[in-house]
Amino acid sequence: MSILPIVTYNDPVLRKKTTPVEENSEELQTLIDDMFETMYNSQGVGLAAPQIGKLHRVFVMDADGVTEEIQDEPNLGPMAFINPKIVEFTGEKVKMEEGCLSIPEVRDDVKRPANVRISYLDRNFEEQEKTFEGWISRVVQHEFDHLEGVLFLDHLSRFKRRFHKSLLTKIDEGTLETDYPLVPKNVDKQV
Ligand code: NI
Repeated sequence: MSILPIVTYNDPVLRKKTTPVEENSEELQTLIDDMFETMYNSQGVGLAAPQIGKLHRVFVMDADGVTEEIQDEPNLGPMAFINPKIVEFTGEKVKMEEGCLSIPEVRDDVKRPANVRISYLDRNFEEQEKTFEGWISRVVQHEFDHLEGVLFLDHLSRFKRRFHKSLLTKIDEGTLETDYPLVPKNVDKQV
């Protein structure tokens, strides 16, 4: 297993369409292992393949580190979602704070539907369909967005985005220090 560097918010790979996985393979299992390792190393609760530069429709999640602290949230353990499809959104829209490993240190409230029902293949390539609620639903919706080329910043108003400008510029320039490896910036200039 390897810890891979994470691409940051302005990298074009985060805006591209992802391709469905056609079959279970050793490569897929390695990808999933690497994604978990990378996510745990950066203390994240979710990670989508485009964040490590791979355009596959895969994301992983393990929110137990957080859900153990929140009442009424289930501990689901590590989960891999392959070729996920949103079946339906239910419930009112709710505001919750989000962050993203590709946008280090930036956090803000995002409004999304309370619950999501999603179908997907698990890492054994078996079909699953589940409804997620509460905080976990938020993680699932955020990671699913990554597979569509959408970042949580896109859900913020222009005003709110401007509020984060100095941090975003630092990320852009590659001068923000993080506890986990990012894909290096300004490669052209480092001759
Ligand atoms: Ni994210």
